[in-house]
Amino acid sequence: MSTESRTAQLTIGNKVIDLPIHSPTLGPDVVDIGKLYGQADIFTYDPGFTSTASCESTITFIDGDKGELLYRGYPIEQLASESHFLEVCYLLLFGELPNEAQMTDFESRVTNHTMVHEQMHNFFRGFRRDSHPMATMVGVVGAMSAFYHDSTDVNDPWQREVAAIRLIAKLPTIAAMAYKYSIGQPFVYPKNSLDYPSNFLRMCFAVPAEEYEVNPILSKAMDRIMMLHADHEQNASTSTVRLAGSSGANPFACIAAGIACLWGPAHGGANQACLEMLREIGTVDRIPEYIARAKDKDDPFRLMGFGHRVYKNFDPRAKVMKESADEVLELMGIHNNPTLQVAKELERIALEDDYFISKKLYPNVDFYSGIILDAMGFPTAMFTPIFALSRTVGWIAQWKEMIADKNQKIGRPRQLYVGEAHRDYVPVPNR
Ligand code: SDX
Repeated sequence: MSTESRTAQLTIGNKVIDLPIHSPTLGPDVVDIGKLYGQADIFTYDPGFTSTASCESTITFIDGDKGELLYRGYPIEQLASESHFLEVCYLLLFGELPNEAQMTDFESRVTNHTMVHEQMHNFFRGFRRDSHPMATMVGVVGAMSAFYHDSTDVNDPWQREVAAIRLIAKLPTIAAMAYKYSIGQPFVYPKNSLDYPSNFLRMCFAVPAEEYEVNPILSKAMDRIMMLHADHEQNASTSTVRLAGSSGANPFACIAAGIACLWGPAHGGANQACLEMLREIGTVDRIPEYIARAKDKDDPFRLMGFGHRVYKNFDPRAKVMKESADEVLELMGIHNNPTLQVAKELERIALEDDYFISKKLYPNVDFYSGIILDAMGFPTAMFTPIFALSRTVGWIAQWKEMIADKNQKIGRPRQLYVGEAHRDYVPVPNR
């Protein structure tokens, strides 16, 4: 809980407005401007919300200067090496690490919700085969509202929990179905005897014509990728889910909105764009050309996988991902992967360049993830769907927190209007 410690004074003309300051557990204090418009008939203005805290939360903390990321207080590095994705899901949803009985029960509930309603298979056939899997996921996840009516009452805590379990359980199935549909292969049903990441890999890569054994190295790497993407404070897609949820929309519609937002190349779509950029660069000798383009104000090109609104130091997830990339490629016998070589050299050159140093641009979570996913056999179009299925637990945990917040109300920002002042209609002959 935040504490009200001090007061800020805002002087506007001859008016002095007292604004409460709340102090957090970690991070900067906040000035509460909730009553500002009523007291001073003035709005604040912060496009992109660079200096705005939109809510009070207990789930994830990021220190951008230190390059620190905590899920419910636990450092991401420790969770990535000691925990596993479903345990992180429990932690994000319920606030504490589960004991053995709680973990067994949670795992059983998720496992037994992995299948989707058989009729949902028909939705896929309405899409072109070459549809981007994110388009399919937005549509099919939104359509879950039409099937799971017994978990759409946002005011019922039990239904909120069932919806959370269903979304965590079914997103990998839906993502795998979107992939299978795009390559013209039959859907593969989930297998309850497999753990969460292994189940996803099998649904993506198994075919009815032969047995499929999950490679434990890839399953462990996938589990780590899922943990690293699970939540990230009030990023664009999480804020989208919260805003959609603030109107009382059902959880499936809210998560579909989050998937749509994540798709953008400035956000979750960067992992696909980054690998495509690394492939376009192709060889180390072409890196300077792209560094120059990234620095050129007249060129819209940006180094994908670089920079972050919050991290002005290394993204801790990128560090773990980089270690994982080395490990997976080595274990898979992929030596001297040209894309990984380009990525490492690009990182080295950029981090020595004044432009990137002065603007505090470091590799982010998307810089290395694509290299691992590519080595696993995923097409680039599946990178953001994997980000989406991993982030679903974060979205739904943040959504649950918002719904349960007694202070929450519908999100409705105002604006700085710079359009035409009042004017009268002009009939066509007089225009
Ligand atoms: C994710 O918010 C989250 O937490 C997101 C995320 C999550 O887990 O949810 O971490 C996931 O979205 C990671 C980010 C993935 N996106 C990319 O890798 C795309 C490339 N990055 C940029 O588009 C950019 O860095 C953003 C969008 C990530 C952040 O943009 P900001 O905070 O709005 O910063 P900015 O655009 O104002 O950039 C500041 C300066 C600008 O130069 P000036 O106008 O000050 O001269 O840095 C420059 C930018 O031009 N800059 C870059 C750059 N990123 C910023 N220049 C070249 N290449 C880049 N990648």
